[in-house]
Amino acid sequence: MSKQKNVKKILVTGGAGFIGSNFTRWMLSSDCPSNNKYEIVVLDALTYAGNLGNLKGLESTNSFEFVKGDIRDEVLINNLLKAGEISAIVHFAAESHVDRSIVDPLSFVRTNVEGTQVLLHAARMNKLEKFIHISTDEVYGSLGPTGSFVETTPLDPSSAYSASKAASDLLALAAYRTHGQHVCVTRCTNNYGPYQFPEKLIPLFINNALNDKPLPLYGNGKNIRSWLYVDDHSDAILRVLENGRAGEVYNIGGSSSAEIENKDVTVKILKELGKPSTLIRHVEDRLGHDLRYSVDYTKIKQELGWEPKVSFDDGIKKTIAWYLANNDWSKSVLSGEYLNFYDLNYSARLKKAAN
Ligand code: NAD
Ligand code: TYD
Repeated sequence: MSKQKNVKKILVTGGAGFIGSNFTRWMLSSDCPSNNKYEIVVLDALTYAGNLGNLKGLESTNSFEFVKGDIRDEVLINNLLKAGEISAIVHFAAESHVDRSIVDPLSFVRTNVEGTQVLLHAARMNKLEKFIHISTDEVYGSLGPTGSFVETTPLDPSSAYSASKAASDLLALAAYRTHGQHVCVTRCTNNYGPYQFPEKLIPLFINNALNDKPLPLYGNGKNIRSWLYVDDHSDAILRVLENGRAGEVYNIGGSSSAEIENKDVTVKILKELGKPSTLIRHVEDRLGHDLRYSVDYTKIKQELGWEPKVSFDDGIKKTIAWYLANNDWSKSVLSGEYLNFYDLNYSARLKKAAN
């Protein structure tokens, strides 16, 4: 890939994962209003959650390049940045699954905290223009039955996942305060869409239902998440990349009609697939399970003109249609490490529930 004039080259970490790959595809597609303005280098360690199949079709594109590597590898990162061609980092790479953080918290600290600091430092030393740190609304902890998170809501994370993300947010904001580094932090609600690894609620339940396997619903199923279709997230990130103010946090959220109890999400999936509700199993709850997330996205709406476009009903239909049409992709990821974790987390719960 050779850098074109007037085209910005950006480094997308974690670009072989769910949101990073959707962001990369969207940025290079005609859906993106700035699609001719960017070239993308994806850096990804290809952990269990990263999959080159998520980027299939982009290999032949001039404006795309893939580098396999770890965000904690200072030598590699400096080598990538020192040529001066990369102007910004959009940082998605992370350990991202709450249930895994309950059994293996240290890997979350290593990637999410140490990895973010390595990138922030290298970005500053190599004089990058911008650093967009992709974070989560989970750093705010859990809401009760009312209210929404705003950007100034105190951080109160419940899991090693959200605590490690909160730590990385603070490191990013500290780089702005100490060095004046142009850093923006985005905090988004739960995403869904194509290429999501089937350990998270929506793709797990779609895949299980398709295979007539039970759906392990934690606790009473009344926990609420605010759902955002992944392309809406990409649109928000582009706006922050282009016009976000340095040192600022931007919340990104679903519309109020996308704030849905897990049991209702489950029923919608089963209905869309024509599968029976007898597949639902109430299983042992997640430890430290946050009750409700809801994000107030007034700031990004007012400053950058963003709001969600895809309703949950349309988005879930599109997502289910994608999983139906991409059975090969599902088969390729529903193996190896996935099965080990499935046994540890889901089969054990389902077995207990049956007794
Ligand atoms: P994901 O688990 O699907 O993908 C993570 C990617 O990072 C994978 O490709 C993995 O191989 C890569 N990776 C992990 N450790 C790495 C390392 N040390 N070096 C290089 N690459 C590494 O995650 P996702 O759901 O796409 O989430 C992406 C980002 O968005 C995360 O930072 C997450 O906290 C944030 N986020 C996710 C959601 C959501 O609903 N999924 C919501 C809000 C924010
Ligand atoms: P998840 O997709 O893991 O996202 P997060 O924990 O980051 O919000 O879970 C979404 C919700 O679904 C959460 O309340 C936990 C619940 N859940 C289940 O009930 N069963 C499952 O098998 C999974 C994976 C999640």
